[in-house]
Amino acid sequence: MSATKQNITSNLLHQISGLNIAAAIDLLTKQFPQQVTFSTSFSYEDQLITHEILNNNQPVKIFTLDTGRLFAETYSVWSSTNAKYNTSVKAYYPQAEPLQDFIVANGPNAFYESVENRKQCCFIRKVEPIKRALAGNAVWITGLRAEHSPNRHDLPVLEWDESNNIIKYHPLLHWTTEEVVKHIRENQIPYNPLHDKGFISIGCAPCTRAVKPGEDFRAGRWWWEDASKKECGLHVAPSAP
Ligand code: ADX
Ligand code: SF4
Repeated sequence: MSATKQNITSNLLHQISGLNIAAAIDLLTKQFPQQVTFSTSFSYEDQLITHEILNNNQPVKIFTLDTGRLFAETYSVWSSTNAKYNTSVKAYYPQAEPLQDFIVANGPNAFYESVENRKQCCFIRKVEPIKRALAGNAVWITGLRAEHSPNRHDLPVLEWDESNNIIKYHPLLHWTTEEVVKHIRENQIPYNPLHDKGFISIGCAPCTRAVKPGEDFRAGRWWWEDASKKECGLHVAPSAP
């Protein structure tokens, strides 16, 4: 990271420390007008952040990556969110041709066959589309939480993302599940009903299952794979190649 980017990021981190989410987003949107964007997967965390942004009328572009393999429940909470906040969350889609070629070559459920296929599917359906969604923005807000994965424990709340050339802000990084759920209930925020059925982290339907009591938070994602490989490439750790 260049010294300038390092300075900007640590200055911002200093400025937002102690602020609540709305105040921190306010500061970021003033410093980077029209260049703050938020990615939602319609999870508990993302719904809470969406509520903060839309309830406070903040100029943040909200988008989702519609992989084409999301749960029916996810599309329902997307619709109810649009209706409740009188908005229209923008969707980014995979490019048709690479997706078509991949499915012709490997079949529709190739992700179960190898980590390579799974990563290729995630690349086509998520990683490439997010590059288009983030282009032209300076700040990317996410719903990452430290509890969700060991890879996320040591993240700072605000960081420089070298691979996407953008500042990332994770307002709920240190929130507990209980705090998130309480906030959702108190503010009557629409949420994905799968959370009531043991789903913690919700991604694509064929690659997400409910988690049993005592199981790791991330156990329901790509459960057939080695735990160390469970990232789709959206959030690459700084030390990763
Ligand atoms: S993932 O890397 O394993 O897929 P996870 O489900 O934990 O990510 O979600 C972490 C954050 O990544 C979410 O809060 C959201 O900001 C972003 N994200 C994940 N999936 C999507 C999606 N389909 N569309 C938009 N943002 C997403
Ligand atoms: Fe494909 Fe599964 Fe990745 Fe979704 S989570 S993009 S279906 S491999």
